[in-house]
Amino acid sequence: MAAEQNAQSLDSAFYQSADTFFSGQAGTALTYDDLTLATLYSEILPRNASLDTELADGLTLHIPMVSADMDTVTESRMAIGMALNGGLGLIHYNMADKQQLKEVSRVKNHIHGLIQEPITVAPDQSVGEVLERIDAKSYSFSTFPVVGDDQKLVGLLSGNVIKPRYASKKITDALVPRDQVQTIQEKELGADPITIADQFFTEHPGINKLLVVDAEDRLRGLFTLSDIERITLEKQAQFRPARDDQFRLLCGAAVSTPRTPDGTLDRERIETHVGGLVERGADVVAVSTAHGHTKGVGEAVELIRNAYPDLHITAGNVTTAEGVEFLADKGANIIKIGQGPGSICTTRLVAGVGIPQMTALYVASRVAEAKGVSLLADGGITKSGDIVKALTLANGVICGGLLAGCPEAPGKVMEISGKLYKQYRGMGSLEAMKAGSAARYGHAAKDAGRKVAAEGIEALKEVSDNLDHLLAQLIGGIQAGMGYLGAPSLPELRKRARYIRVSPAGQREAAPHDVIEMKASQ
Ligand code: XMP
Repeated sequence: MAAEQNAQSLDSAFYQSADTFFSGQAGTALTYDDLTLATLYSEILPRNASLDTELADGLTLHIPMVSADMDTVTESRMAIGMALNGGLGLIHYNMADKQQLKEVSRVKNHIHGLIQEPITVAPDQSVGEVLERIDAKSYSFSTFPVVGDDQKLVGLLSGNVIKPRYASKKITDALVPRDQVQTIQEKELGADPITIADQFFTEHPGINKLLVVDAEDRLRGLFTLSDIERITLEKQAQFRPARDDQFRLLCGAAVSTPRTPDGTLDRERIETHVGGLVERGADVVAVSTAHGHTKGVGEAVELIRNAYPDLHITAGNVTTAEGVEFLADKGANIIKIGQGPGSICTTRLVAGVGIPQMTALYVASRVAEAKGVSLLADGGITKSGDIVKALTLANGVICGGLLAGCPEAPGKVMEISGKLYKQYRGMGSLEAMKAGSAARYGHAAKDAGRKVAAEGIEALKEVSDNLDHLLAQLIGGIQAGMGYLGAPSLPELRKRARYIRVSPAGQREAAPHDVIEMKASQ
């Protein structure tokens, strides 16, 4: 017993709780590699550790990962991939407002069992016109319901006839006629449409589209076999997709803080645009700026909160307790922590400002708890171990560079000396600011082309694995960390974490050393 007590106090003298450790380090700013976590008695298997995280009431992710609202990281394809894996994508705002609304719609309408507004074609169009449309809109499907002006179902244009050889044919001459198309009445769907559709496809081998019509035979929706099969598989997956209560994928969108020519906040534009995002089903808006503890950001958050009392609002970025308190008081539920840690950021070099992540997260986390808001650790994450450390103080992490090489990230792939790369740029880089993000760094849009001090660089990332594989690796790492700490859930991880500083020699020891590496593990 005495030996046990001694062992315990010996451990606690070296491996300290967050409060003891960070208070003891006050005056020194620490980031991920400056410290390590001590192991603790464990009864859990890593694969059983739950990664659910509640970012706000009614906003739960099944993995604590968010893709950054950057124009080389998150558009609808990345947001869909993130949500399908249980996380969240924040669609960037370096595009026209209208375009961002469309991007959100793409995510919200992606495989939610019943496609409520299927893309249709008209009987008098030609197959060639349909081919052009598929090309222009980059549709990934090629079967279309055919409807007349009155929305009544005329037939189904099958993917088999969408071929250049039939380009001159009228759709009326190429479609499967109405009486041969499989349909179901809207009222027959009941409370569990997915099960009804699943049964239908089982009973009708070879059929992979089921159209929903109303009593007047107007088209009301479309089920596809592949969607239904995916959804059935998802039910068995450990990390379920992150969905809203209508079974649509979760999606976030960043909004900026535009100003009118007289320099005041453009309230009308913000309110109208956020209204559009809400209408399209965005689950969270992120007021994303480099300096969140400012009058302008406070006003923007307050404006959105007053206009949309139930909307989840992320705001940032801040790295101080006062900054967290300020944004929470203005109505934000989720606060982004990070100033200058990003892989493409130069804020600390250019402005001499910013705080290394672990210290910033600790300071922020104490106020966040008191204010009932959650935190996202934003930037500087380069490996799964960093995520585990961040999650001892935050509710989730935002990744930019780590995801920017995935095929799901926007941007062209280029080949240099036989290797494939993708563009990755800071939203404070001159080129990104010219494309729209100037307000994020406190500059007027019209000044972005002139000599403003850039706070980010343009870079390349080696093309990486696809998002599913990359996330599987990262998730495995997070769960391993939780296993070492005996933490079955993220709240337990936060409670159990014990920290210690690492010397420069200790940092070298942490990475592979004194060997010739043949194959990197990630
Ligand atoms: P990582 O390290 O994941 O960081 O690549 C992504 C985060 O970096 C922030 N960000 C910037 N910060 N100048 C900055 O100082 C920039 O140009 C810039 N662009 C993005 C942002 O918080 C992002 O999530």
